[in-house]
Formats: sequence, C-alpha cells, structure tokens
Amino acid sequence: MSSFRLDPKYLAFQVTQEVFYQLFYGRNDRLARKFESIVAAWETRRRRSDVPVSSTIWETEYSGEKWNFLESINELSRYSVIAGYISYLKPQAAVLDIGCGEGILFDRYQGHGYSNYLGVDISQVAIDRLADRQDAKTRFIQADAEAFEPTELFDVIVFNESLYYFHRPLMGMKKYCHALKPNGLIIVSTFNTSSRGKAILRKLKEQYRVLDETEISHRPSSMSWTCTVFKT
Ligand SMILES: C[S@@+](CC[C@H](N)C(=O)[O-])C[C@H]1O[C@@H](n2cnc3c(N)ncnc32)[C@H](O)[C@@H]1O
Repeated sequence: MSSFRLDPKYLAFQVTQEVFYQLFYGRNDRLARKFESIVAAWETRRRRSDVPVSSTIWETEYSGEKWNFLESINELSRYSVIAGYISYLKPQAAVLDIGCGEGILFDRYQGHGYSNYLGVDISQVAIDRLADRQDAKTRFIQADAEAFEPTELFDVIVFNESLYYFHRPLMGMKKYCHALKPNGLIIVSTFNTSSRGKAILRKLKEQYRVLDETEISHRPSSMSWTCTVFKT
C-alpha cells in the first residue's frame, strides 16, 4: 500500500503564497515587491500552471498536446458563457482574444457572427494550428501580449484563462483598455483554484466597474471558473 506524505516545505510555501496573494498582491511598496520576487521564483521552479512561463515552455506544451483537454466537455461551459456574453452584449463585435491558444473560443463563438476577430498567442505552435481559420476578418498572430500593441479598436477584449500568465497583469489590463472602442467591454475568465488568478481579479474589481459576472461550476470534474465582464 502506498503511503501519502505531506511535504512540509511545500505546505509552508503554500501558506506563504496564500499570505502574499491575500495581503500583498498589487501593492507597490518595497516589502511587497521583495515578497513578490520570492513567491514568483518559487512558482516558476514548481511550474505551477497559473504563472508566467517562457514561450519555449508553451511551445513544448502545445507540441506535446498538453492542452488538448481544453477541447473536452469539462471545459465547454466556460467557452459557452464567454461566447454568450459577447454575442448578447455586443452583436457582430470586433473581438480581440488575448492568449487565444488553439482557437477553441473562436470555434465556439464564430457561429454568432462578428465583424473582426483577432487572436493573439505567445505560442507559434498554437497559432500555426489556426491557419485554416484565417480570412479577411479573422486573424491569428503570434506575439507576447505583454509587448503587443494593438493598432485597431475592439468592442470586446477577452482574457480567457490568460491574464494570470502575464508578469504584470494589472498593467496589461490597463494597456488593453486603450484598445477598446467607446463602451467596449473586457471579459476575464479566472480559474477559481488559482490564488494568483483570484488576487488579480480582486484587484481588477477595485479598479474597474463590473457589468456582469457568472460563476461556472462543472460538477463531474469539480472545476470552476469566474467569468467577469468589465466596463471601463
Ligand atoms: C490556459 S491557456 C488558455 C488558452 C485559451 N484562451 C483557451 O481558453 O482555450 C493560456 C494561453 O495563454 C497563452 N499565453 C501565455 N502567456 C502569454 C503571453 N504573454 N502572450 C500571449 N499569450 C500568452 C498561452 O500560450 C496559452 O495559449
């Protein structure tokens, strides 16, 4: 029989991480910045699935089909809620999908109709898989979204499980607000078991007005997400 042992170091770090995200995240004083660099270094070593990683890691993971599970029925509700929000709130929208991955949101949403769809992802492997979806109003490009500067305006910008991969998510949100048309909306989907994701969402809610929000809970897998629509 295998015995289950808790790693005390891992537990200690989880507590530290929780304290950081609850009390220090988003603060700009010296102590908070120091704390953040310690937590970030540890998260990167552990390859947690909700922290910034290099483009090489994304390429390896997409080549290894690691993200194929996003196509499964377990994830369907998340895409459906976001697609529903876009089509209900901004029919025929110009959409910017940041961290679009292999275009699953696009596939679920495209039947609703749109004027312009731009997907941006750091992974060339993921973008290459979207070659057959491109046309005059549908584009997918490889870029680091933290450095990317949009040259057009959008009705809706979506961060579908992607904002917490930014090194500076709050700065990222601020930058993309400038790429919205008047009365444009930003939709952020956040995996509920990510302390980092939840801390980012908490900070966003302090800074931007929430138009609507849906909690999604998939019973068989026990996975849940929060989809928040921000007006700026
Ligand atoms: C969890 S996956 C979600 C993919 C897609 N939004 C979906 O839900 O199907 C996160 C995505 O964000 C992308 N990503 C991570 N950091 C990024 C960055 N700095 N710029 C652009 N894309 C990034 C990854 O390559 C990956 O495709």
